[in-house]
Amino acid sequence: MSDLTGKVAIVTASSRGIGRAVAKRLAQDGAAVAVNYVHSADKAEAVVQEIEAAGGKAIALKATVAQRDDVQRLFDEAEQQLGKVDIVVNVAGASVFKPHVQLTDEDFDKVFSVNARGAMYMLQAAANRIADGGRIVQFSTGGTMMPIPGGGIYAASKAAGERFAFALAKEVGDRQITVNVVSPGVTDTDGLIMGEEDVAQLVQQTPLGRLGQPADVADVVAFLVSKDAHWMTGQNLQVNGGIL
Ligand SMILES: NC(=O)c1ccc[n+]([C@@H]2O[C@H](COP(=O)([O-])OP(=O)(O)OC[C@H]3O[C@@H](n4cnc5c(N)ncnc54)[C@H](OP(=O)(O)O)[C@@H]3O)[C@@H](O)[C@H]2O)c1
Repeated sequence: MSDLTGKVAIVTASSRGIGRAVAKRLAQDGAAVAVNYVHSADKAEAVVQEIEAAGGKAIALKATVAQRDDVQRLFDEAEQQLGKVDIVVNVAGASVFKPHVQLTDEDFDKVFSVNARGAMYMLQAAANRIADGGRIVQFSTGGTMMPIPGGGIYAASKAAGERFAFALAKEVGDRQITVNVVSPGVTDTDGLIMGEEDVAQLVQQTPLGRLGQPADVADVVAFLVSKDAHWMTGQNLQVNGGIL
């Protein structure tokens, strides 16, 4: 476990799933955490209460990463209530899975507004507002490396976030800020829309022999935002039990 005492973290999409595990892990390591949500106010509040019950500090903040004003307000409120931000983990993601020939303009707007435009806003705000020596983590997917039928639009939109992150790593390195990408493999959350048979098949192909859990991914994020990861930037970590 690393020591994040005195650090302030914003974790987007942390009312549920992997984001929730990341928020809880960073709080366990000592960071004060802004738990971000869009619709799940009750779930975000429950995450805050779990963190506080364990002796940590957290607040819940509503904002969609897809709106520039919301992202600015997210940083304003986190700064006002917790202090200057040291760690930004942009977990938020939207997905559409369907064959390419069936894709609509609405599908495009749904995934690109969160995965591409949202990543642009979050990484811009992070670069402008984070303390020198800070840590930025952008979430992507193993799907940008391993094409799957029906996964084209999701992978394309996530690839935009990766590319923003890699360029930003070169732009803020002189401030000793690291920017890395975490790409989960199939992970057991509400966002997992595969049937049991497909999941069983994937588990069979996974060298480590099981389905990923949110905490498996949170452990890697905890390392990336720690002091020990100071010499790693512009990397894409595949966190997937070895399937890729
Ligand atoms: N699970 C997987 O197998 C898997 C695999 C590869 C990559 N990923 C990526 O890992 C990340 C987390 O996935 P997950 O499965 O944990 O998600 P999830 O369980 O489906 O949870 C979705 C979360 O995203 C939040 N959210 C949705 N739209 C948002 C927006 N516009 N702004 C801010 N927050 C928003 C939701 O908040 P509300 O509930 O408040 O709306 C919720 O907290 C995503 O980027 C996803 O693409 C997941």
